[in-house]
Amino acid sequence: MSAQRRQLHLNLFVYPGGHHEAAWRYHGSDPGRVLDIAFYQDLARRAEQAAFDAVFLADGPSLPDNVRYASRFRLEPLTWLSAIAAATERIGLIATASTTYSEPYNLARLFASLDHLSRGRAGWNIVTTGAPDAAANFGLDEHPVHAERYDRAREFVDVVGKLWDSWEDGALVADPGTGVFADTGRVHPVNHHGRHLRVRGPLNTPRTPQGRPVYVQAGSSEDGRAFAARYAEAVFTAHQTLESAQEFYADVRSRAAALGRDPDGLLVLPGISPFIGSTEAEARALQEEFDELTQPGYSLDLLRRLLGLELGEEELDRPVPRHLIETGGERGLGSRFQLVLDIVDRERPTVRQLLHRLAGARGHHVVAGTPEQIADILQRWFEQGAADGFNVMPPWLPGGFDVFAEEVVPLLRRRGLFREAYQGRTLRDHYGLARPESVYATTPAAVPVPAPTTAPARQKEHVPS
Ligand SMILES: Cc1cc2nc3c(=O)[nH]c(=O)nc-3n(C[C@H](O)[C@H](O)[C@H](O)COP(=O)(O)O)c2cc1C
Repeated sequence: MSAQRRQLHLNLFVYPGGHHEAAWRYHGSDPGRVLDIAFYQDLARRAEQAAFDAVFLADGPSLPDNVRYASRFRLEPLTWLSAIAAATERIGLIATASTTYSEPYNLARLFASLDHLSRGRAGWNIVTTGAPDAAANFGLDEHPVHAERYDRAREFVDVVGKLWDSWEDGALVADPGTGVFADTGRVHPVNHHGRHLRVRGPLNTPRTPQGRPVYVQAGSSEDGRAFAARYAEAVFTAHQTLESAQEFYADVRSRAAALGRDPDGLLVLPGISPFIGSTEAEARALQEEFDELTQPGYSLDLLRRLLGLELGEEELDRPVPRHLIETGGERGLGSRFQLVLDIVDRERPTVRQLLHRLAGARGHHVVAGTPEQIADILQRWFEQGAADGFNVMPPWLPGGFDVFAEEVVPLLRRRGLFREAYQGRTLRDHYGLARPESVYATTPAAVPVPAPTTAPARQKEHVPS
């Protein structure tokens, strides 16, 4: 990372309708456009005008039951981000894809294709998929357990990395004179034989502008942290307090250093969902307006999947029955489960209060305040060892994003905390990450690398994104 002043990174985390579970019912929303690509292309252009690092799309290969009450279907990230790539020039494009419910060869070429068609702007949010109901969509009777999912994920990411490297820089010659299209001496089979996967390779797509799309990851459990320390270049995470974010930040960076990595090569980006008003009272009133639109049918289902609690509407104004929450087994391994349990233990909320806490952003940090107050929170977490930037999660779209870009971003710039304009063209440029060399590279490329042209299982448990 260059010697220039450290500046924070901002991603726009796009969720159909917005992150608040009742966003689609808010009078400022436009639920009829949740499947309109022009809506998302326009949103991405706005984030690009604000010089955001990336737009990010979550994913899960199953449909949650509570779609009855909220826009909880999925935009398949690689497909939608390809269309967004065509409408933008610089903003990064981070797509989520599962290591449990995908095959490495196909996934490698899908992301390589996104990196080529965007001229070096692709990132892969590596998830193992927490939702057990995905298993039935892939012919499995049982959802693989947490440890098994991470074991496959490690092997999966190793294979995908080798496939992306299977074409060295300079392998694509395309010389009509000599008739050599590809220098096959620089195209390598990966011949991977592992516990979970067998892949011969090489990849059928030449090396991408970034060498490898950016590795993003979002696990916070013991396995999740070890995985992040080993592979992640950017880590998404959910924290309710500065202290828990500081602990996570220090931990993953020290784990990375212990593995011989430069900790600055791993960016930590907590999620934040801001309600913004010209006064704090106005911002809180806006948040309450959203919470009043929530429907117990949706929220109680979320609580069942997060904590395993089967509760009814008659219990909404009673304290959360802490004694009924099972902390052992698979569910207890997940970081989101722990995060919600900490809220229950710390705040002793009623069921309704807890549902409203989760309605905003599923356990991510929800804040309400003036633009100055929001900028203060971002600056504090950034300067006090809790974050290198943030996944901005607008409660509703597009308005919740526009007010952030128009009111908070200028304040961050005035404080020298955020870029005025893009310095580079690729996501690696924006994140200040090096372009990796192919692991097969023996000698420097004979043919110089072309720069991106302009105009680059048993017990159900679930962790929502
Ligand atoms: C910002 C953020 C985005 C996430 N996006 C997804 C997603 O798109 N799909 C998914 O299955 N899980 C998603 N997750 C959940 C994580 O992949 C992971 O399952 C969760 O953080 C629990 O990790 P753990 O099992 O290591 O605790 C997301 C988590 C965070 C913090």
